[in-house]
Amino acid sequence: MATKGGRRERVSTWTPGEREAKAPHPDEAQRPWWTSAVFYQIYPRSFLDTDGDGVGDLAGVRQRLPYLARLGVDALWLSPFYPSPMHDFGYDVADYCDVDPLFGSLEDARRLIIEAHEHGLRVIVDFVPNHTSSEHPWFVDARSSRTAAHRDWYVWRDPAPVAGGTLPGPPPNGWAATFTPDEPAWTWDAETEQWYLHVFLPEQPDLDWTNPAVVDAMHGVLRFWLDLGVDGFRIDVVHYIGKDVPLGADVPPPEATELTHELLRGLRELLDAYPRQPMMVGEVFIFSTRQVATFYGRGDELHLSFNFPPLYAPWEAPAWRKRIDRVIEELDPVGAWPTWVLSNHDNPRHRTRYGTPAGARAAVLLLLGTRGTPFLYAGEELGLSDAVIPPDRVVDPGGRDGCRAPIPWEGGAAHGWQTADPWLPWPPEAAAGGDAAAQEPDPGSSLHLYRAALAARHRHPALGRGSFRWLESPPDVLAWEREADGDRVAVVVNFADAPADGVLPDGWKLEVSSTAGAPGQAWTGQLPGSASAWLVPESL
Ligand code: NOJ
Repeated sequence: MATKGGRRERVSTWTPGEREAKAPHPDEAQRPWWTSAVFYQIYPRSFLDTDGDGVGDLAGVRQRLPYLARLGVDALWLSPFYPSPMHDFGYDVADYCDVDPLFGSLEDARRLIIEAHEHGLRVIVDFVPNHTSSEHPWFVDARSSRTAAHRDWYVWRDPAPVAGGTLPGPPPNGWAATFTPDEPAWTWDAETEQWYLHVFLPEQPDLDWTNPAVVDAMHGVLRFWLDLGVDGFRIDVVHYIGKDVPLGADVPPPEATELTHELLRGLRELLDAYPRQPMMVGEVFIFSTRQVATFYGRGDELHLSFNFPPLYAPWEAPAWRKRIDRVIEELDPVGAWPTWVLSNHDNPRHRTRYGTPAGARAAVLLLLGTRGTPFLYAGEELGLSDAVIPPDRVVDPGGRDGCRAPIPWEGGAAHGWQTADPWLPWPPEAAAGGDAAAQEPDPGSSLHLYRAALAARHRHPALGRGSFRWLESPPDVLAWEREADGDRVAVVVNFADAPADGVLPDGWKLEVSSTAGAPGQAWTGQLPGSASAWLVPESL
């Protein structure tokens, strides 16, 4: 606890202006803070509403900071809260340097950052560089005429040539839009008689990062938030920014290019010039861990990258062994520090995917026991599953409403929000007494399990930064050991419904269990079905 306690105390005295003058903690001087931190993703729309419009806001996040500090996470990632027409619920940004009135004001953002720091929590914000909103003034100008100042900030192309054809003619290439694969990733602009590219919605035109003016403007955005005090960025679909745009119907889908890597080196240089170690974690949505590894460059591109194959893996021991091995084989040799995530705002929650509360509880100790930086998604600590969305309540063009259901903080009809009828239906746990307040007094609750695991992770350097070694285990069980400076923790996970016997039979005692058992209890080698545990040497 000492390291963590020490850091917390020091951070609590920071204000953005003062922060650069403080000397880093000796541990952190050697290891950047984000290698042993646990991140917590907040989807602001769904976190907590304080003004009664049914949509969460920054004041709601501020209100829950004591809860988050007590939970034991180290850093918050805030999904977009910028002005936006909300076609993609904020991932269509109309102004990178302000706050949508739905969420509050820039002053609320500034206060949130300061107050989070006072609670020992770092803050990273979402940076959406691949596309803007079609309502961003840059695009409004760009589409006004072919000679507009911002025209070449976006990707405009003439129609593909067809003999004797009339306008518009076919789109320049065969790329499909991400949420509507039957539609082209191009929209015809009748006024200026060209197509513009949008890998996502037509309301999300792609920026052209081959244009140095775009690079400069986006660097300005990063500086704006760094100067306001943020500790880094989660970068949306970052592998797309330097894509080539080949012409022709049968071209391969967008791919990262050397330009993408060059642009990332530029962003890294900008961040590294700030003395307080700001970081960036990229959403590299590529299902090859080998390719993900390339986005770390030679330690001069992304600090961290998401690696999604584990999130899509079934809850089975061989599948997880393979995903963990892939990380060891592909990331370790190039010095790339891994990340781990089970849930986010784009996918069904793992409680829903794994099917049972026991599976979700077992997964916590796996997630927080792997070697790398874990990312939690708000509400997973309460064991929430996805809301059932009736057809007339569907709002997301990508079909992701279920995992974005509002967080039930309390009992009653409004669950701690200002209205009983927020922008999306409540998750099923809300009506079943699974809200945060109800879990508070229950030591067997999911909330207590997360708190116990996060506290143990901070007590044990082995879990935060230690080495990884597989241990022998029965077929449906995975077992591994983490070790740092003589601190040792074994992680055991039973993926099967049936109990397992003979799991690390000798020399261990219980530290945290997803089922039952107090810390310090002698370990018998028996692991219940769908359960996991952290063990420490008996001699400790
Ligand atoms: C990835 C984000 O996570 C997702 O929510 C969004 O729809 C797309 N990028 C487009 O920005």
